[in-house]
This record gives sequence, C-alpha cells and structure tokens, in this order.
Amino acid sequence: MCGIVGYNGNLDAKEILLKGLEKLEYRGYDSAGIAVHNEEGITIFKEKGRIADLRTTVDSEVEAHIGIGHTRWATHGVPNRLNAHPHQSASGRFTLVHNGVIENYHLLQKAYLKGIPMQSDTDTEVIVQLVDLFSKEGLSTVEAFRKTLRLVHGSYALALLDHEDAETIYVAKNKSPLLVGVGDTFNVVASDAMAMLQVTDQFIELHDKEVVIVKKDSVEISTLDGRVVERKPFKAELDASDIEKGTYPHYMLKEMDEQPSVVRKIIQQYEQQEELAIDEDILQAITEADRIYIIAAGTSYHAGLVGKEYFEKMAGIPVEVHISSEFGYNMPILSEKPLFIFISQSGETADSRQVLVKITEMGHPTLTVTNVAGSTLSRESDYTLLLHAGPEIAVASTKAYVAQVAVLAIAAYVTGKARGVALDFDMKQELGLAANAIQSIVDAKDVMEEIAEDYLKIARNAFFIGRNIDFCVALEGALKLKEISYIQAEGFAGGELKHGTIALIEEGTPVFALVTQEQVALNIRGNVKEVVARGANACIIAMEGLEEDGDTLIIPRVHPLLTPLVSVVPLQLISYYAALHRRCDVDKPRNLAKSVTVE
Ligand code: M6R
Repeated sequence: MCGIVGYNGNLDAKEILLKGLEKLEYRGYDSAGIAVHNEEGITIFKEKGRIADLRTTVDSEVEAHIGIGHTRWATHGVPNRLNAHPHQSASGRFTLVHNGVIENYHLLQKAYLKGIPMQSDTDTEVIVQLVDLFSKEGLSTVEAFRKTLRLVHGSYALALLDHEDAETIYVAKNKSPLLVGVGDTFNVVASDAMAMLQVTDQFIELHDKEVVIVKKDSVEISTLDGRVVERKPFKAELDASDIEKGTYPHYMLKEMDEQPSVVRKIIQQYEQQEELAIDEDILQAITEADRIYIIAAGTSYHAGLVGKEYFEKMAGIPVEVHISSEFGYNMPILSEKPLFIFISQSGETADSRQVLVKITEMGHPTLTVTNVAGSTLSRESDYTLLLHAGPEIAVASTKAYVAQVAVLAIAAYVTGKARGVALDFDMKQELGLAANAIQSIVDAKDVMEEIAEDYLKIARNAFFIGRNIDFCVALEGALKLKEISYIQAEGFAGGELKHGTIALIEEGTPVFALVTQEQVALNIRGNVKEVVARGANACIIAMEGLEEDGDTLIIPRVHPLLTPLVSVVPLQLISYYAALHRRCDVDKPRNLAKSVTVE
C-alpha cells in the first residue's frame, strides 16, 4: 500500500528518500515520486512503475537537504505519472504526499475549489489545493493545514512542503500509519520504521488527528486544535540485516526457510520456568470470555480458522471467525462476555482496525495477535500477543501464518490447562517436533519444485481440498498460489466439490488434496477418487502414518492439531516455484500490497 518518507537534515535528501522508498517497496505500489526543496524551490520527480524507473528520472545535479517521497498503490485514478504523488497546489506553493482515502473529496471540491483546475484524478489533490486556498485567505501554513484536516473525512498520513519555507515538513495522520524518526542533526518521516533505519532507530509514534512540524533540529506535535503534545521516542527493535535478502533471490524464499526457527523462537518467547505461558492478564481475559470472536483478513483469517479449532478443542471456548471487512455490516448477536481477537501480521490492516475501533467503543475486551510491536492494532487493543517472526517483507505471507498458528496454539493450550481441560500432550514438545518437520520440508525444495513443474506448469486453474483442519490449510494453499502465480485457485472442503464445483474438473486439472486427519482420511481419499474419475491430476499430500501407495508427498507425522504448521509449507513452496516458472514477480505480485491500509 502507499508509503511515505520524508527527510530534513544536512545530507543528500534525494538519496535518503529513494533508499527509504526502496525499503517500502515490499508494501506494494504502482508509481513513485519525490519532491525536494532547496533555494531554487521545490522540484518534483515522479514516475509510473518501480523505484528503479523513478531513479532514472531524478536529476543528480539537484542538491537538497529536505524532501518528501511516496510510493502509490492506486485507489483514486489509474496508476500513471499524473496521479503519482507528490501533488502540487495550482499556485505551486504547496507539495503533498498522502497515504489513505479522503472519503468526502468530491464534496470538498464542489464546496471550496470550484474554478481551480485539478491536475490529477486523485482524492489527495483536494487536500493540497485546500491548504493553498486557506493560506491565501491569510492563515499560516500550519493553520491552513489544520483547517483542511478539520474538513476532511477519511484516512490519511500526510507530509507537506511549503515553497515559502525551506526548513519545515508538515505532517499529519489519521487512521493511516506514520512515524517521525529523530536524529541529532536531522529528523525524518516514515510510514514504516524500516524505511528510515538507514539513519535512525529512534521513532516517535503519532496518534490520529495530530499535526507535526518537523524541522531538522526539532519535532513539535500538536492536536488539531493546537494543543502541544509531548511524546518520547521509542527504539525500533529491528535489525537492518533482518530486512535484507542476503543471498536469497527472493524474500519469500528466505521467509519460508526461516519458519522452523520462527517456531523455535516462539517456543522460547512463550516459555516460563520450562512451561509454556502467556501473560496473566491475557490468560484471564481469555478464560473469562464466554465466546471468542476472531477478526482478520486474508492469510490471517485463514490462521484464525485454525485458531477456532484450537480454542474450541483445547480450551473449550466457542469461537466465531469473521472476515474483518464484512464484520461491520454483518455483526452477529454478541454473547454476554465476548473477547475479540484481532489477527494481523502488520497490525495495520484498515479493515480490521475499523472493527477494533467499533468494538472498543462498545467496551468489549480486545486482544491483537501481531508481528509488529507498536503497530496500530497493537496500540489500540487492550492486549497483544507478539508473533516474534521478524519482519515479513514478501507480500505473500508465509512465516507470519506459521507464527500465527503457533501462537494461537500456545494461547489455546495454556487457556485449556488453566481451565482444567484434560490435555494429554506437551505442546512445547509437539511444537518442537513441528519445527523439525517444517525443516525437513524446506530442506526438500527440489521435490516441491518438481511438483510445481508436474502439476502447474501449464495449469489455468487449480483446486485445493481438505476436510476438517485440512480445509483451513486448503484455503491458504489456494490463496498462496493465486496471489503469486496468478493461476486461478480455490480451496474447498472436500465434500463440497460435488455440490457444484466438480463441474470445472476436466482432463489434467490439478487438485491438491491434504490428508493429515485420521478421522476423515478415507473421506478425502474418496473425494480424490471422484475428481480423478473426471480427469483431474491429483497431488496427494499425506501425513506419515496415513500415506498410501501413489501419494505424491509424505510429510512428517506431527500432533494432529499442529498439522497446519507443516502441511502449509509444501503448498507455499509449490506456489513459489509455480510463480517462478511463470516468471512472476514473486515478492511483489501485481495489484497487491503488503499492508492494506485502506478499507
Ligand atoms: O497484515 P495482515 O495480516 O492484517 O494482512 C492481512 C492480509 O492482507 C494478508 O494476510 C494477505 O492476505 C497476504 N498478502 C496473503 O499472503
């Protein structure tokens, strides 16, 4: 999704901004631009496509020490140079980058900007024109900015330059993430700390509806009504090397390889006196709930479906899982003592956040399971469980899914123990075995590459089937394949195919079937026979102990509840190799963003 950077200091602003934007590339974007300010005025460089394309347009002769930059993921207006940020007001005085969506931009345009020619199709341009208009009416820049923000409805992270003031970046945010980074002789702005780790690891978090005046030697935060706010910086617990690819060709491959160590790290992080444990307050909040509502999107939603199995089977608490973007319209009748669990790798997903805001207003307890400490969802919910997976850069989520499943397993197990549920296995030991099983799969990449070649090289579509907990993984397998290889893929409950979708099976259609659950193994094998009889090319992935002659891949045996941690891994790798065969941009699939910060 869109990303913002800003630099105000003594060094070459262009290079710092471009490097910062490169670090934000993983979020997904389709155009990019920077604006720098020096004694000659403000110069804008922008381009459709990649940062590499933008670099070719940047004039190396332009020297400047202050500037702003942006990667755009198109919402209003097609991805082209004209709609790329930064945008400038008609008079040329103000230059702005924006992340988010201005819902009432049309109304504002009609009410205030009649006669002002718009250069782009974006909602953003309205903001910069309004600041210009109000400053012409005699307001100072900060007051014109505040007045504009009071009129705007929607989400925004903004960085603004004023042609008449070469020392300041004006910044504001509402619902979209934005941080100010601080240094001794400079200050910076970034949607994500990763972008500016190149110069600092000290960041100040901003709250909604705050305005910040960023000079090179000071940062002043205030509210929309002008009240000054004091806030100390925090240290971003990120290692610059965590966000490098190293010798890997793709982040996705690196992140899949990290999965065994992520599970081991989670065991360590959630261990107290040799036993798995979660924070007492969190445990109490879960045990007091009469029903858990899991809210999430995409891969995190799929992890939530597995989480439901865990909390119901290990802790005896009923669970509902909801897609966050749907929950607002379809809120179920809530139980008397609900607990809301938000699952989000980034902790910034706008669809999930809007539910969190509503639920917080209703006064229900909330817990976020996230990979990013200090993220919006983490800050705004009552409790947080961290994934400890390290930064996930590839758009396709892999290690975060595995981490989500592992952390949910621990939370449910610890809750079950606390509630006196008879659990006759040691979760710590079982997770350790699962980590080893994942290791053996990532070590057999050549096998997955062959499967991808055999089953998907010329496929137009593919189906993933499973029953029970395998169905949850089938959904995730299908999402992985479609998002990075663009092969149309669907996940189904094995028994459901014959109720319609089996009509799509024809000679050679790939069907990936998961067989990890003993009680439904025969049923899913029955479904495989049904599709094979109609010409499908079935790839059976079975767990050791449930295998049969002719199965395509045997994965190591693990506790039946923990199979999602393991069975998802071949599906991730097969998707990866299928995407490589098709020469797709694995880490940055088309049209997708890593962190979806608009609703
Ligand atoms: O950051 P989140 O976990 O909240 O993101 C939710 C989805 O956007 C995300 O899981 C998406 O589906 C992944 N790119 C899939 O690989």
